[in-house]
Amino acid sequence: MSSQTILRPSTPIDTTRFRLRPLTMADFDDVHAYYCRADVARYLYWNACTPEETRAYLARNVARTAIENDDDGLVYAVVPHDTGRVVGQVTLRLASREHRQGEVGFILHPDHHGRGYATEAATVMLDLGFGELGLHRIEGRCDARNTGSARVLERLGMRREAHLRAKRAGHLGRVELRQPRLRNLLPDRGQLRVEVRPGAGGRSSSCGWPG
Ligand SMILES: CC(C)(COP(=O)(O)OP(=O)(O)OC[C@H]1O[C@@H](n2cnc3c(N)ncnc32)[C@H](O)[C@@H]1OP(=O)(O)O)[C@@H](O)C(=O)NCCC(=O)NCCS
Repeated sequence: MSSQTILRPSTPIDTTRFRLRPLTMADFDDVHAYYCRADVARYLYWNACTPEETRAYLARNVARTAIENDDDGLVYAVVPHDTGRVVGQVTLRLASREHRQGEVGFILHPDHHGRGYATEAATVMLDLGFGELGLHRIEGRCDARNTGSARVLERLGMRREAHLRAKRAGHLGRVELRQPRLRNLLPDRGQLRVEVRPGAGGRSSSCGWPG
């Protein structure tokens, strides 16, 4: 990955079932419909949002349309063709330019679970990450109890590498799943490590980062 690499995909990106496009402030109602839900935030690093919190997170995510430096990300709305409404969002974050590491995340409104949208949308983000961005490894992290998220990550081809201890009492910790580059395999593909790091589990940018 050259120091000049900037990933600013042309959007929208259409799949057979939905469109991925940057969020806009006009999406507030649709986005707040899932940000405000305790069952959506349950395993994430934030609580159900007030309208003001949603507006602040949304404003930050609206700006996430290009990746240049560490911690930059793409956040795209998932918009099924049949309704034209935002039913969730998918993210790709550059975790380390130097080590070509990225992270994928997804949130869907519960009314739209069980249709494969998260898996399909995340597949697009993996293609961008491994393709145009030239990443070597993309990981997904989720709360150890978040079996729905872990299933999506496994369906994407990731393998479970670590179970991180919880930082706070009452938490089970998180699992990390990673996927090495699948196409144009790099020589170091076999160097995946199992990591067990203490102290993880706090609020950080991760699978469910809202902003
Ligand atoms: C994580 C989350 C996106 C998973 O939602 P999901 O609906 O299970 O995931 P998908 O959209 O990929 O759908 C997969 C399910 O749809 C089913 N499905 C139906 N039609 C399908 C299709 N055409 N293609 C693929 N899967 C399909 C799959 O069998 C699968 O169900 P299963 O897990 O019971 O086997 C959702 O639980 C969520 O938004 N949670 C709150 C936010 C969150 O925790 N995000 C993750 C942070 S780490």
